[in-house]
Amino acid sequence: MDLTKRLAGKTAVVTAAAQGIGRAVAERLMAEGANVYASDLNGDLVSTLIGAKTAILDATDGTAVTSYFDQFDQVDILVHAVGYVHQGTIEECSPEDWRRSCSITLDSAYYVLGATVPKMKAHGGSIITIGSVASSIKGFPKRAAYGATKGGVLGLTKAVAADYIKEGIRCNSVCPGTVDSPSLHERIEELADKMGSKDEAVKFFIDRQPAGRFGTPNEIAGLCAFLASEDGAFVNGQAIKIDGGITI
Ligand SMILES: NC(=O)c1ccc[n+]([C@@H]2O[C@H](COP(=O)([O-])OP(=O)(O)OC[C@H]3O[C@@H](n4cnc5c(N)ncnc54)[C@H](O)[C@@H]3O)[C@@H](O)[C@H]2O)c1
Repeated sequence: MDLTKRLAGKTAVVTAAAQGIGRAVAERLMAEGANVYASDLNGDLVSTLIGAKTAILDATDGTAVTSYFDQFDQVDILVHAVGYVHQGTIEECSPEDWRRSCSITLDSAYYVLGATVPKMKAHGGSIITIGSVASSIKGFPKRAAYGATKGGVLGLTKAVAADYIKEGIRCNSVCPGTVDSPSLHERIEELADKMGSKDEAVKFFIDRQPAGRFGTPNEIAGLCAFLASEDGAFVNGQAIKIDGGITI
């Protein structure tokens, strides 16, 4: 692909950048010219991201997030990709599962967006949360805690957009359907144990996608790059679905 350098000179922060969507986003923003600061809980894996300034960061640790952001005078782009999928109904969701879901998906967004806004207020910027269509957009079986926490992420995204539009900060959420990432394969293995075969588990996930296939991390990254750039300058406070037709 002939990529433009529409993000040249921009400072971009990407969380959960070691694998999957976050990693593809970090690579895409670098390809478009941004200086990328990529962090993840998995320091070894994120350190393999050539060209990015990488760091270990647990985004559920508010103190660690604050000190990580101390290094920046200015942040132009944030893509917050940290999230956790608990598979289960409300009855199958223990208080520990619920707290873990809230901590990883929602608390992390509070800490990371909260640390980013002061670094953008003087000059504007683009914040992108990775939401999901499994949220306030659509209910899915066995996604009680996940849907609830991603719904919270969409609410926070819209609130930040409303509060800081006058400062030139845009805040949008990219809401994927099922994307072929390492954690999807973990979920497929988990379901295969319950359904009896991996083929059946894959079919379960593919059947949810009218497009008949999973999305790719690169497809999600392309939408993030658009929102991060001036091409997306008039898009604000939106939950943008990229879901292979799930919500047609
Ligand atoms: N894969 C999908 O089908 C899909 C669909 C919709 C939304 N999403 C969302 O996209 C995002 C990325 O998912 P994915 O499937 O591409 O990636 P993944 O689940 O394969 O990888 C997630 C990464 O997050 C890191 N991480 C976990 N907890 C962390 C923490 N506390 N602090 C910092 N990093 C942490 C992990 O180390 C890992 O590198 C998530 O928010 C997920 O909910 C994924």
